[in-house]
Amino acid sequence: MLVRPDLVSLDSLQQQLSAVLPDENRSLGIPPACYADAGLLPLEQRAVFQHGWLVLGHADRWPAAGDYSALEIGGVPLIVVRNKSGELKTFANSCRHRGSQILTGDGNCNKIKCPFHWWTYDLDGRLKVYSRMENAIDFNADEFGLVEFPLVVRDGFAFTSFEDEPPAIDAWLADFAGCHEPWDLERWRVARVREFEVECNWKTFIEVFNEYYHLPMVHPDSINWLYPEPDPADVVSGQFTTQFGATEGAAALLEDSQQYALPSARGLKGRVAKGTRYTWIYPNTTFALSQDSMWMYQAFPLSADRSWIMQTISFPDESIALEDFDERAGHYYARIDAALDEDLPFLEQQQTGLNSRFARPGRFSALEPSVGKFAYWYVQQLLRELKLD
Ligand code: FES
Ligand SMILES: [Fe+2]
Repeated sequence: MLVRPDLVSLDSLQQQLSAVLPDENRSLGIPPACYADAGLLPLEQRAVFQHGWLVLGHADRWPAAGDYSALEIGGVPLIVVRNKSGELKTFANSCRHRGSQILTGDGNCNKIKCPFHWWTYDLDGRLKVYSRMENAIDFNADEFGLVEFPLVVRDGFAFTSFEDEPPAIDAWLADFAGCHEPWDLERWRVARVREFEVECNWKTFIEVFNEYYHLPMVHPDSINWLYPEPDPADVVSGQFTTQFGATEGAAALLEDSQQYALPSARGLKGRVAKGTRYTWIYPNTTFALSQDSMWMYQAFPLSADRSWIMQTISFPDESIALEDFDERAGHYYARIDAALDEDLPFLEQQQTGLNSRFARPGRFSALEPSVGKFAYWYVQQLLRELKLD
């Protein structure tokens, strides 16, 4: 199963996983093989992506009936689509005829039509159109609807699960709603979505977004000045980690664009009206929530060392309604893209080091508590799955 010669057995993997502790100040990091070994991907997919709830995206990404995206999460191709009654739905993106992937990319459709032999489903997944099936004895189209997964929306985010009986979502998220309640996320709207591939493991991509340690080294002239010492990570229950930090200005704008700052979201008061909450919903979704904007990343593994990234930038609805919104939003996009462009070469260089069989687990600085908290959550998922094997 394992490809790397430094982890010659599952026992040695288990030993390294067991060195990741709940207290990040005592813990070693995730074993490097988990970032680099193609042989571990199936275990990771089962342990991390086939269990519990997964973020599909901000529900507002699909505002109109027929809006859809074809995604692949944990090796499962799926469709997210808004039906004609306005509900979001998730289906397996596998045709009930002979299994073809049906939709690709994003767009708007009034039916879900397989390109292979044109079996066609409505937006509720019911098989409605097919040809030349008169020979199929007792064929009942009602039995050949698309496989549907549960979908729930909480605080503006759409979640799905591949489990037959997923845990209760509110128990899964626990303190999440309370931590984000001041921003009233349900009325935020998606303004821009970008998708791209990166040459690094999906976990490193999310990790760099959740630590302040690299800011002076990687972003010395762009965004480092924005961030004074953050608060410690919040002590929360639920499948996420979160850390708030005050900022010097609008965190989503570069220094020479601060005059374009949009107003703080309606109703924000106190410290949260001038700062950013960095939250990581396990396993693969993270966002920065400032007083005026939210930028979110979802990272999907393509292989151990390549990932597909969805970047979504959202604003409160009253900001989007402003006459000069587009011009001001352009400065936000420039800042977010500039910081990302600075991170990417470091992530690729990190991957090169992680790919070595001589890479070893490290320790965490006081400025990366969320990375340590994720590490513990992640290894618990793997250990649980290994026990089941
Ligand atoms: S595989 Fe989809 S219609 Fe044949
Ligand atoms: Fe960064």
